[in-house]
Amino acid sequence: MDLYEYQAKELFAAHGVPVLPGKTVDNADAAAEAAAEIGKAVVVKAQVKTGGRGKAGGVKLAETAEEAKEKAAAILGMDIKGHTVHRVLVTEASDIAEEYYFSFLLDRANRSFLAMCSAEGGMEIEQLAVERPEALARIPIDAITGADRAKADEIVAAAKIPAAVADQVAEVIVKLWETFVGEDATLVEVNPLVRDPQDKVLALDGKVTLDDNADFRHPGHAAFVDQLTENPLEAKAKAKGLNYVKLEGGQVGIIGNGAGLVMSTLDVVAYAGEKHGGVKPANFLDIGGGASAQVMADGLDVILGDPDVKSVFVNVFGGITACDAVATGIVEALKILGDSATKPLVVRLDGNNVAEGRRILDEANHPLVTLVDTMDNAADKAAELAAARA
Ligand SMILES: Nc1ncnc2c1ncn2[C@@H]1O[C@H](COP(=O)(O)OP(=O)(O)OP(=O)(O)O)[C@@H](O)[C@H]1O
Ligand SMILES: [Mg+2]
Repeated sequence: MDLYEYQAKELFAAHGVPVLPGKTVDNADAAAEAAAEIGKAVVVKAQVKTGGRGKAGGVKLAETAEEAKEKAAAILGMDIKGHTVHRVLVTEASDIAEEYYFSFLLDRANRSFLAMCSAEGGMEIEQLAVERPEALARIPIDAITGADRAKADEIVAAAKIPAAVADQVAEVIVKLWETFVGEDATLVEVNPLVRDPQDKVLALDGKVTLDDNADFRHPGHAAFVDQLTENPLEAKAKAKGLNYVKLEGGQVGIIGNGAGLVMSTLDVVAYAGEKHGGVKPANFLDIGGGASAQVMADGLDVILGDPDVKSVFVNVFGGITACDAVATGIVEALKILGDSATKPLVVRLDGNNVAEGRRILDEANHPLVTLVDTMDNAADKAAELAAARA
């Protein structure tokens, strides 16, 4: 999960990284109030999960509360690279003597962590990385020893951070490493990390990506989930522990067991859909190994709740959970859902105990269910049904 700047800075503050006070608001009047509370010049900053906000006009200085209101009104509702601005951060303005760049990230290619640091930070960092890569120090970080003070000093020296603030920057780096490890992040970035005219070092911006696989260790991170932009069906699936993904522009809902089977189901549906006016998958859900009736009911409930879905393809290969259990799951799920199940289901079962699974579905003879023997034929049937109902 990517965090907003204001959330990233909350984590920074909790780990002792110096940041300036601010308040996040969703309307211009509240921005004026926040600026009045701060009582000096402020910066009004668009809170969107994309880079280049400053260049897009989403970061503006305001000398007075009245000006903060005007700037907030201009920034709220703005579109930055396809992200609508719903909130702005109103934060104390800092005088800036120099801007530095710093980040810790997961370096997948080298199976390690990496620190990147430059004495020439700011909004042109991407250009710097391309045109003068030597100005961006890259220091691998051992996962076991981490970034201790000695490593931080090495990074500061490699990046040619000026001596007057070298100690402070090294201290900040150690705290950012504590943030990175303590919060289970895969990215912690500060651009700009500034030196003010009094030689104080401050994180003026923050970007953090949290590793969702570690969510169970951080109950507090749930508060970072954005209610405003989260898809309600994704939220429902997550609450039930299901892996659901919404796709744009499709009509066939897909339920399968196992990531590999689900991925190939997406392919065969898209391929079959070409013969039916370009029908495509609308979403997919992996019910995993143990597909109990309740899991199947929860899965169907989520998939059928997507208004784009015109037909559903249930593609299951019986393994540890045999086909008869899955078939019983489907029959029971349809009972649980009752009248709320209104879209045709194409079911393809194969694998462990398939004959008994098919017998159970035949016997139930549910009006919405079509049993098809092969994956290709089932995909074709699901696409045909979706096209007919589009
Ligand atoms: N509190 C502040 N006081 C003074 N200047 C600021 C403040 N916050 C940001 N700025 C200035 O605005 C520039 C852009 O701000 P920021 O880094 O937060 O956004 P951005 O870099 O455009 O966005 P992103 O990092 O997402 O690409 C900074 O480089 C800095 O010069
Ligand atoms: Mg920035």
